[in-house]
Amino acid sequence: MVFVKKINSKMTFQVRQPVLRPGKPVESCIFEGDDLETTTHLGLYNNSTLAGIVSIFASRHNLFPQNEQFQLRGMAVLDEFRKKGYGERLVNEAEACIKERNGSLIWFNAREVAVAFYTKLGYEIIGDAFDIPTIGTHFVMRKMI
Ligand SMILES: CC(C)(COP(=O)(O)OP(=O)(O)OC[C@H]1O[C@@H](n2cnc3c(N)ncnc32)[C@H](O)[C@@H]1OP(=O)(O)O)[C@@H](O)C(=O)NCCC(=O)NCCS
Repeated sequence: MVFVKKINSKMTFQVRQPVLRPGKPVESCIFEGDDLETTTHLGLYNNSTLAGIVSIFASRHNLFPQNEQFQLRGMAVLDEFRKKGYGERLVNEAEACIKERNGSLIWFNAREVAVAFYTKLGYEIIGDAFDIPTIGTHFVMRKMI
């Protein structure tokens, strides 16, 4: 059975660490604002295994004038569960959550390797590539919903 539910920030670390911070200490998995009331963490389960995660932050980017904007962070699917539609399902669920909160714009800093994944889901690159130290090249991407 595959399902998505809200999880707490600490639970995300079991996927953030191997996928997004490999070889780094668990403290590197803590994102500023993880435990704010306005932050939501979604987990996709394959039976009892947490296979994928995404987090929603009420955070504004100065490129965008909209008041009701949200940032996705920490999008990750465990290696052995990729290409099964789980990432897409997580993005769809995050979009539904953001719509419920009257959000009109979703943005994030996308890793270069994930840009094609997000483009398929209707996101577009805004501006030039930039570097996030120790992680690599990123692009700001956004979608109006
Ligand atoms: C990016 C990631 C979340 C995608 O998850 P996933 O569960 O494998 O994606 P899905 O199976 O839902 O893929 C949806 C579609 O995107 C495509 N896709 C997935 N990853 C892709 C990639 N890296 N490049 C191009 N297309 C990709 C799939 O083929 C699928 O297309 P289809 O519907 O035509 O078959 C996953 O590969 C991952 O965790 N990567 C490492 C961490 C990372 O880069 N996170 C993003 C940080 S910004």
